[in-house]
Amino acid sequence: MTSTNPSGKLVADQLMNDPRVQQAEQLLQAALADAKAQLTEVRGPRQELQESYHQLVERMFAARGAATYFRYLSSGVGNGPWVELADGSVKLDFIVGIGVYGLGHNHPEMLTSSIHAALQSTIMQGNLQQHVDSLKVSELLLKLAKQDSESPLSHCLLTTSGAMANENALKIAFHNRAPADRVICLENCFAGRSIAMAQLTDRPQYRIGLPTALAVDYIPGPDPANPEEALQRSLAALDMHLKRYPGKYATLWLELVAGEGGYYPGSTEYFSKIIERAKQDNLLIIFDEVQTFGRLSRPFAFQHFGLSKYADIVSIGKISQLCATLYGEALKPKGPLLSQTFTAATSAIAAAHVILQKMDDGQWYGPEGENEKRHNYFRERLEQLAAKHPGKISGPWGLGMMIAFTPGDGSPETAGRMVHALYDAGLMSFVAGNKPARIRFLPPPGITHFEHIDAAIEIMDRVLTTFE
Ligand SMILES: Cc1ncc(COP(=O)(O)O)c(C=O)c1O
Repeated sequence: MTSTNPSGKLVADQLMNDPRVQQAEQLLQAALADAKAQLTEVRGPRQELQESYHQLVERMFAARGAATYFRYLSSGVGNGPWVELADGSVKLDFIVGIGVYGLGHNHPEMLTSSIHAALQSTIMQGNLQQHVDSLKVSELLLKLAKQDSESPLSHCLLTTSGAMANENALKIAFHNRAPADRVICLENCFAGRSIAMAQLTDRPQYRIGLPTALAVDYIPGPDPANPEEALQRSLAALDMHLKRYPGKYATLWLELVAGEGGYYPGSTEYFSKIIERAKQDNLLIIFDEVQTFGRLSRPFAFQHFGLSKYADIVSIGKISQLCATLYGEALKPKGPLLSQTFTAATSAIAAAHVILQKMDDGQWYGPEGENEKRHNYFRERLEQLAAKHPGKISGPWGLGMMIAFTPGDGSPETAGRMVHALYDAGLMSFVAGNKPARIRFLPPPGITHFEHIDAAIEIMDRVLTTFE
């Protein structure tokens, strides 16, 4: 057979480098830049769109079968932390889909990656349809995980959701510790919405009517106000469970900063002590990094806390646009346990590659990294605000680009009202935890500048002045 391609280049490379594609991309980038330039501050809704917006939102609630937390429908266009809604209003988005858009809205590099993904032969990738990008993303994730040579993580399985990454993590743990079939978690943890994850998640209302899918036991978590007491409490509870069911526990499941639980970080001392105790009984350690990934002083929270050598199995998601389960060679399943038709959309994989490269270039990380600088600035500004409005907010709490404060009396009712008051004034945040309830921000690490933090503080200041 004769070749019809004298250049010897892959057709795919010819397509991606075709001058028409490059020209189209330049035009799209220029049009996007013009559109974005119009979205640089908070705006109220347009009068003439209010009725149609109301109807759109009601139709969405009806189709979905339940209301969403905010009456939020994006127009589909934004600019960094600014996002336009379908009613013409512009919000300052400091929650970004609960921690998802690491580069904010409409980042030019996301457009480039999406254009290239759109030209590829499949919309989704998966078990029998992997492109080279899937390999690149998997290798980059492992490279980031291996930044500390002690990390045993050497394999990576991509998937579509944090819950599914966690399901795979749990499968690997049970498979390797069979017949042990119990799990130990920290109180107040959140792991996702599948039947097994609803069982792990420490919220009774999330498993109403669901069958008992797993045997889960809880130990009290860290308490930064009383660290030593909290550690002793956790160790005592852990010891009690391990002795009550000897040989029955497969894994100790840990969120290193309780995300949905209210932004309670532990410490190196706390985690290493409870992990060491669990290891005495041969438990595998699972770090659920679906919310923390990318947001602290290192790419992984287990690196931030100096726990790399304990990372048997790690799940990630959200900011990476796709989700994944990482595990070590010793835990490789001995049968066809792990597979999926879809591992992610081709555009999500391309986007993940861009974001992981940003994590790899290191600017976000380290004591002088952008995540820490922004955290410190945001913290300072929140402290000033707390001093100006005594009794109305306290804190702040959290680490890196996970930051929260406690509103007023800390009741869920006050938190809900304040989150909605902030939303109406143009700032998007979200609730977390319930004892006390907190209001949290997950600003996009790639593009949040001090001026955006100032804009958020200015809105909060205004809202707090009249908030009762
Ligand atoms: C720590 C943690 N684990 C798991 C999940 C579930 O991820 P997903 O909603 O993508 O299934 C979440 C989501 O908020 C999370 O914060």
